[in-house]
Amino acid sequence: MTHALTDDAVTKDGCAIRASGVGRVFAGTKGHQVIALDDVHLEVAEGEFVSLIGPSGCGKSTLLRIVADLDHPTSGSLTVFGKSTHQARVDQDYGIAFQQAGLLPWRTVAANVGLPLEVHGVARSDRQTRVEELLELVGLTDFARSYPDQLSGGMQQRVAIARALAESPRLLLMDEPFGALDEITRERMQAELVRICSETGAAVLFVTHSIPEAVFLSDRVVVMTPRPGRIIEIVDSRPTAGHARDDEFRDAEEFFHTIARVRELLHGGPVAAARGVETR
Ligand SMILES: Nc1ncnc2c1ncn2[C@@H]1O[C@H](COP(=O)(O)OP(=O)(O)OP(=O)(O)O)[C@@H](O)[C@H]1O
Ligand SMILES: [Mg+2]
Repeated sequence: MTHALTDDAVTKDGCAIRASGVGRVFAGTKGHQVIALDDVHLEVAEGEFVSLIGPSGCGKSTLLRIVADLDHPTSGSLTVFGKSTHQARVDQDYGIAFQQAGLLPWRTVAANVGLPLEVHGVARSDRQTRVEELLELVGLTDFARSYPDQLSGGMQQRVAIARALAESPRLLLMDEPFGALDEITRERMQAELVRICSETGAAVLFVTHSIPEAVFLSDRVVVMTPRPGRIIEIVDSRPTAGHARDDEFRDAEEFFHTIARVRELLHGGPVAAARGVETR
């Protein structure tokens, strides 16, 4: 169990995330138990982009919440940069961006981005410099003084991503961050995220329902089964030499090939077929 790790039991292992046999059972109604996750083994290397994909209810958010110390496994263990999830949270080792941008409507864009720095007592002038850098990174310099409701959905998501990056985390946890966006904005945001990751070198654990999105962004795609959430297979989706993650890659044969493989895994199993897989 994560709890069993003492905060000074830090072992540097080159892994951003290491999940060993992680299980999570929820007490359901009428004494029924819901096995949200079962025996999940996963290692995310530093700087690696890993996506989780699988039908609704297969435990993707649960796994992300466990990494973020918002929930705890009922079996197995999980470390973040070799530390307990609690210590990683205290050390601000990761930033979080979820489906809803979750911005504070009464704060300007700049004040929303600077919020984590403010909470952690960073001096005003240092904060200002960092916020300017971040807004430039996500292309929103001209909107620093705007309020969230004056921005489009995609722009609000970019503010949320800038906020998640505020403390230069080595790990980003993203749960369907582009789920509410139209296809064109979504592809633009994906390109932006690829650029941000290459500039910051952050590892990412990314949840999505979109197979092309997972394949486009990720080094590896983790395909999960419906309840109990288990890993069926981990598909390598790194572009081969000569390819970058750009618009050309979206037309490449290897891109379609990997998409087909993930789709086959998601739709192929008898369990998936019986339950009707919701993931596209
Ligand atoms: N706090 C909780 N109490 C009881 N059951 C829960 C709780 N959180 C999640 N579950 C159950 O655990 C299972 C996995 O939920 P989770 O939110 O992780 O799925 P998901 O893969 O993120 O689904 P989606 O794609 O719809 O977001 C579901 O059956 C859900 O009902
Ligand atoms: Mg979810």
